[in-house]
Amino acid sequence: MIDDIQRIRDEARNKLSSVDDLTELDRLRVQYLGKKGVVTTALKQLKDLTPEQRKEIGAVVNEARDELESRFEMKRLDIKRSDLEKELSRTEPLDVTLPGQYAVPAGSQHPVHRVIDEMVGILRKVGFSIATGPEIETEYYNFEALNTPDSHPARDVQDTFYVQSPVLLRSHTSPVQVRTMKAIDPPVQIVSFGRVYRADYDHTHTPMFHQMEGLLVDEDVSLADLKGVMHYLIRELFGKRAIRFRPSFFPFTEPSAEVDMQWNDGWLEIGGCGMVHPNVLEAAGYNPDRYMGFAFGMGIERIAMLKYGIDDLRSLFENDYRMLEQF
Ligand code: DAH
Repeated sequence: MIDDIQRIRDEARNKLSSVDDLTELDRLRVQYLGKKGVVTTALKQLKDLTPEQRKEIGAVVNEARDELESRFEMKRLDIKRSDLEKELSRTEPLDVTLPGQYAVPAGSQHPVHRVIDEMVGILRKVGFSIATGPEIETEYYNFEALNTPDSHPARDVQDTFYVQSPVLLRSHTSPVQVRTMKAIDPPVQIVSFGRVYRADYDHTHTPMFHQMEGLLVDEDVSLADLKGVMHYLIRELFGKRAIRFRPSFFPFTEPSAEVDMQWNDGWLEIGGCGMVHPNVLEAAGYNPDRYMGFAFGMGIERIAMLKYGIDDLRSLFENDYRMLEQF
């Protein structure tokens, strides 16, 4: 019986060496190692032997089975590897630099945020850092601390969205001036961007829009510094062009001016500015005899419309992809 087993094992080894596909390998495996296979049958016959024979022959059969099992497994891996190699050499080499079949749609930045990013970049270069404040404000920060008395027309409930007095949606970014001054000691040089709200709606007004606010406070600040910053900002945004300062009025600055820039054949208003009113410095806890400063404010949408030639302000908020995709 031992000879039989050696013979079976040699025979299986021989057959195995000439197999080169998985189907044939499976067939052989069943023939030798399957439930009714030659080796399994030999193992079953062991029960008819004497205990001594069973021990001796059993060891030989088990060894043959283990050996064949590992040979079958090795062969299986061999065949798989060479199948893969064949497959790889048959197919065309893969060009990973070819464009994909479907273009992944790329997002783009909203024109309002492009302008914000650009202005932040411009002003940071000359020392401004970014400050923020809440959109839900109080009458105190939005008006009172900005020297805007109760009687002022801007405080008309018709113009401002009140949550419930004294809580309101800020109508400009100027309250950030006060919040910043209350939080840090001078010198202050900040710029702030954000949403503001007013009860207004037509092709140049939307109930929500964006503003930018700048503030510089120190011991020796003049109107000339303000003009220099305005010149610089507008030149960086729109290229070299003339600007002019038109006397104006804001409760929180004295003197106050509106800034116009040359546009086609005329002038276009682009923001308000002025020297910070002593009452504002005082409300923020700064000594107005020692400190002075300038402030400026601009509408972001206005600048985006000019830069990108958009003529209806409302189109900036409709989020129509056909419009936004142009940026
Ligand atoms: N807050 C003003 C507005 O909403 C704009 C403004 C004017 C801001 C003059 C300023 C400033 O900081 O100095 O119309």
